[in-house]
Amino acid sequence: MSADSYVLAIDQGTTSTRSIVFDAQGHPLATAQREFAQHYPEDGWVEHDPHDIWRDVIATVGEAIALAGITAADLAAIGITNQRETVVVWDRTTGEPIHRAIVWQDRRTARTCAQLREAGHEAMVRERTGLLLDPYFSGTKVAWILDAVDGARQRAERGELAFGTIDSFLLWRLTGGEVHATDVTNAGRTLLYDIHAQRWDEDLCALLRVPMAMLPQVEDSSHIFGQTLPELFGAPVTLAGIAGDQQAALVGQACFAPGTVKSTYGTGCFVLLNTGETAVKSAHGMLTTPAYRIGGRMTYALEGSIFAAGAAVKWLRDGLGIITHARQTDDMATRIADNHGVYMVPAFVGLGAPHWDPDARGTIVGLTFDTEPAHLARAALEAVAYQTLDLIEAMIADGGAVPSAIRVDGGMAANAWLCQFLADVLRIPVERPAHLETTALGAAFLAGLAVGVWPDTDAIASARKEKTCYHPAMADDVRDRLLSGWRRALAATTVRM
Ligand code: G3P
Repeated sequence: MSADSYVLAIDQGTTSTRSIVFDAQGHPLATAQREFAQHYPEDGWVEHDPHDIWRDVIATVGEAIALAGITAADLAAIGITNQRETVVVWDRTTGEPIHRAIVWQDRRTARTCAQLREAGHEAMVRERTGLLLDPYFSGTKVAWILDAVDGARQRAERGELAFGTIDSFLLWRLTGGEVHATDVTNAGRTLLYDIHAQRWDEDLCALLRVPMAMLPQVEDSSHIFGQTLPELFGAPVTLAGIAGDQQAALVGQACFAPGTVKSTYGTGCFVLLNTGETAVKSAHGMLTTPAYRIGGRMTYALEGSIFAAGAAVKWLRDGLGIITHARQTDDMATRIADNHGVYMVPAFVGLGAPHWDPDARGTIVGLTFDTEPAHLARAALEAVAYQTLDLIEAMIADGGAVPSAIRVDGGMAANAWLCQFLADVLRIPVERPAHLETTALGAAFLAGLAVGVWPDTDAIASARKEKTCYHPAMADDVRDRLLSGWRRALAATTVRM
């Protein structure tokens, strides 16, 4: 194998950081992973320490390279993919963050968003960004940090502070402060970027009170961003790809044709439908978002965002203690005949698409004395499928065709019971690739494309040839009964206590 055949992807997610070395066929050769601390300083607040993230990136890149039996000099490129919307503000001179990162799940700016909505700004925001005024996105979080930290606003105006999503923070540090940039998929989640004109928007920055002097340069997703400092990994490596994790998964699933759709089951669940060069506007709570920009050509997607999927299973493990490992839920759900009328709406941090209710909270309905832990496990899995259906139906209502299949990935897609139930509920085939690391593969691919490891987007399709397919098999009356139970539970969730 030639020296330039390896590409490393850094996948900086919500609960863990991973580095994976891929070969030129797109096969993962070595993976290193570390979980890191979540901070919940107040109800609805979620923070990460950027130092933890940086430490784990450096450690996992080193480990993955060593495990693959190569050196940094053998890497053709590094690609970065990241939890999106999460905000870091740092000092340009010292590189030190001035506050912990405010995570995408954080609801502290719900009031600001409501005020902006009441003042009539949502239509303009929606038109230019494809997003909604919800605390999920970065813009209001940046302003919150500038208001909370003494003197920060003035320093930001003077250009002394930098803002970035996680990709941008990592890029800046990996290049020793040389490069302050991001890609269109991350810029497109800030509420500050006009996705049609493809530039930071002065009016939006003024509205959300974010000084433009702190914003990164926006580039293609496949682009030579810079070189890592030689001392970090033993040799400089070209940083050549950046994409938000959900868009990277779309690339890793080879969803390049308009009408193809993928769903990633990580902490949350994110369904993205490729809409080609058209930015489709949604009237049903979907987001319009850049899918990727390659060679200066923008591709758009419609996105449905669910905030808690794997997070609900994590809660069964860490909160309730009824399982010790997520994979047990597969057997538990299989073992019981039905859901026994138990439904869970996992609105732990409010509801995302298509409801957009930051104040909703989780609900479990249908409990009886013979409810067992297995029913709760099954309810958590079922909820993921029902929510996916709600998103697909909203996309169809927005004018999308019924997809011929859905491509699934992420940790929860390893659960065979869930994949079959998803096919039954959606009534379309569910395709699961042999390697579930499609997010990292997408980032590696974007990087490899920029440096010539892969010639074009066709090359990626061959890396996902092996797959398992689940076909719908549920009787209509059973499905109808389940869906009406879900809708009743959902209605109970949105009722204010
Ligand atoms: O928008 C948030 C998303 O990017 C987080 O992804 O995989 O960490 O749940 P994940």
